[in-house]
Amino acid sequence: MKQTYARKENVEEKGNNKDQASITNSLKSKTEAIKAGLLGLGTVGTGVYRIIEQHQEDLKHQTGCDIKVEKILIKSMDKERSVAISPELLTTDYGDILNDPNITIVIEVMGGIEEARTYIAKALQSKKNVITANKDLIALYGGELLTLASENGCDLFYEASVAGGIPILRALVEGFASDRITKMIGILNGTTNYMLTRMAKEKLEYDFCLKQAQELGYAEADPTSDVEGLDAARKLAILGTLGFHTDISLDEVKVKGISSVSQEDIQYGKELGYEMKLLGIADRRDEEIELSVQPTFVAKSHPLAHVNGVFNAVYVYGEAVGETMFYGPGAGELPTATAVVSDLVTVVKNLNLGVNGRGMVAPYREKKLKPENRIYRRYFIRLVVKDRSGMLADVTKAFADHNMSISKMIQKPLAGQQAELVTITHTISLKDLEAWVKNIESNRSEIKIVSYYAVEGEEN
Ligand SMILES: NC(=O)c1ccc[n+]([C@@H]2O[C@H](COP(=O)([O-])OP(=O)(O)OC[C@H]3O[C@@H](n4cnc5c(N)ncnc54)[C@H](OP(=O)(O)O)[C@@H]3O)[C@@H](O)[C@H]2O)c1
Repeated sequence: MKQTYARKENVEEKGNNKDQASITNSLKSKTEAIKAGLLGLGTVGTGVYRIIEQHQEDLKHQTGCDIKVEKILIKSMDKERSVAISPELLTTDYGDILNDPNITIVIEVMGGIEEARTYIAKALQSKKNVITANKDLIALYGGELLTLASENGCDLFYEASVAGGIPILRALVEGFASDRITKMIGILNGTTNYMLTRMAKEKLEYDFCLKQAQELGYAEADPTSDVEGLDAARKLAILGTLGFHTDISLDEVKVKGISSVSQEDIQYGKELGYEMKLLGIADRRDEEIELSVQPTFVAKSHPLAHVNGVFNAVYVYGEAVGETMFYGPGAGELPTATAVVSDLVTVVKNLNLGVNGRGMVAPYREKKLKPENRIYRRYFIRLVVKDRSGMLADVTKAFADHNMSISKMIQKPLAGQQAELVTITHTISLKDLEAWVKNIESNRSEIKIVSYYAVEGEEN
């Protein structure tokens, strides 16, 4: 997430305060409703509308004023809506929201990148506060838009962009404000977690589970962004930026998806005491940062091994607090809408206090990415070897030649004088692992690497 914050100074800041003060004054009294423009009335937009309508009393109690959706931008006027909406609320012209001075908050839940980016930028330039659920946009242009928000004295919040209904971003920014986060591990994509859970529990094949996820509406017709790990990588970039106070851009996250994970890999992992999960890991030790999304075997003793189905979870290690875990629904109409509306409550409270655009802590830490020779992990490695005497000693030596050693191993006979060796290594460096893979693939025809995956957590 490229950050290019510019804290506005003196003259401009005074100007912004004036603008903000005039917005606050325009609220006149706390009995006057605060008006929001909603961009999108799909899954999330419908949930946001429902919650604002149904929770008026609670929202008023928390903010001191009524909150009203004044206009809703949609694409098609003819579409049937699952919520009763007065037709005059709907528009296909963004100008109806942008040019309405009474609308002080724009909620972007339409998705997509370029149009959403333009609409949000225009809203901020018009001194309207913005809430978005758009992880694709924030992971790519979060820095640019946050700078714009800061320059215009506006809030830009995006709680729903990571892990849907789990209030993880506010927890990182506010709950951990006094601590120093050293590591975050997340199951950040419900679609892949649903697929891996079914593969593990029901011994179903990858293609079948993907088709089921598509039929249930968990996966898109083009599932690439989910199954190849990009969706999780976007969320990890947002988590890394907020948790480590450092500019993290998407291309700094190493990404590997689940499309090559096989049923056999998962069952061998289970036999050795692990569950397969697509993990996003952001690690900061010795001031060096490492970010990756990859299918990982998680020890059954680790709480993340038990996060199943479409659920998400984020495990956070703080120097002072130790270990904490946040768990919940990562998507869906109402869970995601609760995150959007919680941002709305914060914006309204800020409006009442006249402090919009001041809550953002710009990334201030220098970024040092960890080189591969200092990225240490354990690995699950599955090999097919020629079943002959001395072969095991050869494999062990090939490991030792690259500073690798075996912690656990199982051996299974195969047809045609071959055997399968499934190992869990001790902690090794990524650089050594990659050198070993290259050497085996180029020079050792009797040893075939079937798969290898990172391992997380200690087994009991
Ligand atoms: N769905 C989830 O569970 C979830 C979870 C977390 C985050 N998010 C994020 O929330 C955002 C919205 O997701 P969603 O699932 O609610 O999407 P969705 O169901 O496809 O709804 C999109 C809505 O935006 C409107 N829209 C799209 N493009 C538009 C345009 N160019 N001009 C005017 N209106 C436009 C559509 O209008 P019509 O109705 O007229 O077609 C529709 O109402 C996305 O950024 C997504 O990544 C979603």
